[in-house]
Amino acid sequence: MIKKRNIALVGFMGCGKSTIGKIISDRVSADFIDTDTVIEKNTGMSINSIFDSYGEDYFRKLERNLCKLIALYPPLIIATGGGVIKNEANVENLKHSGVIVYLKSTPERIYRNISHDNTRPLLANTQDKYAKIKELLEQRTPLYEACADYTVDISMLRIEESVQMVSRLYYEING
Ligand code: S3P
Repeated sequence: MIKKRNIALVGFMGCGKSTIGKIISDRVSADFIDTDTVIEKNTGMSINSIFDSYGEDYFRKLERNLCKLIALYPPLIIATGGGVIKNEANVENLKHSGVIVYLKSTPERIYRNISHDNTRPLLANTQDKYAKIKELLEQRTPLYEACADYTVDISMLRIEESVQMVSRLYYEING
C-alpha cells in the first residue's frame, strides 16, 4: 500500500499556518502537528522563554530534531514555525515525507494578524513591528519560494477558502 504523505505548511509568522492547518486536519482526518506547540510541550517552556534562556540556536536545534522525527509519521498536517525554511535539512526532511505548501501573505495582513501578539521573540524589542515584518519577509521570501511544492496566496482569502484550497491539495496528493 502506498503511504499517504504529509502536508507541511510554511510561511511567515502570523500568516495563519496553525489556524488553517488545524481545520484542514479535521477536514481530511489526518493528525495535526504544530511544531512550536510540540517544542513548548516537550520543554515545558514558551517559545519566548526558550529564546530568552537558551537563545535562538538552541530553539533551531529543537526545531531541526522535530522535523526529522515528524517525517517518520505521515500522513500529518504540519504547521511549521516561520523560520523552519532557514535550515536546508528541515526542508529535506519535510519534502522526504510529503509536500511543502507555502501560505503566502502580505506584510500588511501579517501585521494586522499579529500586531498585538507578544509571543514572537523575533518581533520583540523593535520600535517598528511593521518594518521588522517587512524586512524579515523580504529576506525569507526567496527561501519560501524555493522550497515550496505549492504556493497558495492567502492574502485575500478567508480562512475557509484557504482551508478548501489546501484540503483539495491533500486529496490530490493522497487520493
Ligand atoms: C519564528 C516563527 C515562530 C516561532 C519562533 C521563530 C520565525 O513561529 O517558531 O518564534 O523564525 O519566523 P510562527 O511562524 O508560528 O509564529
